[in-house]
Amino acid sequence: MKTTEITEEILELKKKREAVILCHNYQRGELQDIADFVGDSLGLTQQAAKTDAKTIVFCGVHFMAETAAIMNPGKLVLIPDKEAGCSLAAMISGESLRRWKAEHPGAVVVSYINCTAEVKAESDYICTSTNALKIVDAIPADREILFAPDQFLGTFIQQATGRRMHLWPGYCHAHNRIDTEHIRGLKQEHPKAEFVMHPECGCLTSCMPLADKVLSTEGIIKHCRDSKAPEFIVGTEVGILHRLHRENPQKAFYPASEEAFCEFMKLNTLEKLLWSLQDLEHKVVVPEEIAKRARRAIERMLEISSPGAYVQPSEKRPVD
Ligand code: 13P
Repeated sequence: MKTTEITEEILELKKKREAVILCHNYQRGELQDIADFVGDSLGLTQQAAKTDAKTIVFCGVHFMAETAAIMNPGKLVLIPDKEAGCSLAAMISGESLRRWKAEHPGAVVVSYINCTAEVKAESDYICTSTNALKIVDAIPADREILFAPDQFLGTFIQQATGRRMHLWPGYCHAHNRIDTEHIRGLKQEHPKAEFVMHPECGCLTSCMPLADKVLSTEGIIKHCRDSKAPEFIVGTEVGILHRLHRENPQKAFYPASEEAFCEFMKLNTLEKLLWSLQDLEHKVVVPEEIAKRARRAIERMLEISSPGAYVQPSEKRPVD
């Protein structure tokens, strides 16, 4: 079947199923192009929370579709490939979080949205890379904080707020492939380029001093659109380059690492999206007992957060 035929069928079935297609910034370009909304984890959660559509087809990884299901009890939530998981979310289970909490009675648990529904249910607050600083800032200074599962986002928050937290040692395998020496080389090759990076980068401590901005994926999109710089070195998963090129054809973008590629994100394809709408598969269901508790932590985040950038590296306060 030709791409144009697949696209036509998807659009037709989308109407029939009264469906909305939500898509993360790291998805394949052809999925981004057909989606109703493309964005970061916060934007996608906000869209999922307010949609009137009967069916949500989530082109992203499993925890994102689960978040949409948590926010929409009773709605049909589909993911085109059920194997599209997240290596970072897999680094902490509900059981291990319960054990960690037992070691720190009374601590406040802040979990990055890249975690399972069960982990969300065990958390007091969810945060994304857009609002993590605001969420942590909203917690009274005398409260102990457990932050899971991304140690690099956790380190970034500590540096930006001066707030001590216990960090779970998780990381994103794709962002872990970004390397400071390579960035130094790219900066020498492209001296006019701004360097924008995601706080999941494994080289965070050594590459942050080189960064012009530390931002969520949507923050990177917005900054590159608004900045007068003609060139950018982009420190995040390479799927974001599709939108950057499409929205800024006159600007140049260099990936901080070609290897910052998430195989799981790329499991969803245009064909699988079509099959998903045809067969109403693969359903993402979260038991209501877990969803109820997880929803509370997500709603707390939505109340506190509004779009915006991080405190920038130059403004950061030391941890001690
Ligand atoms: P954001 O799109 O929220 O910046 O997060 C990226 C990510 O971790 C996707 O797994």
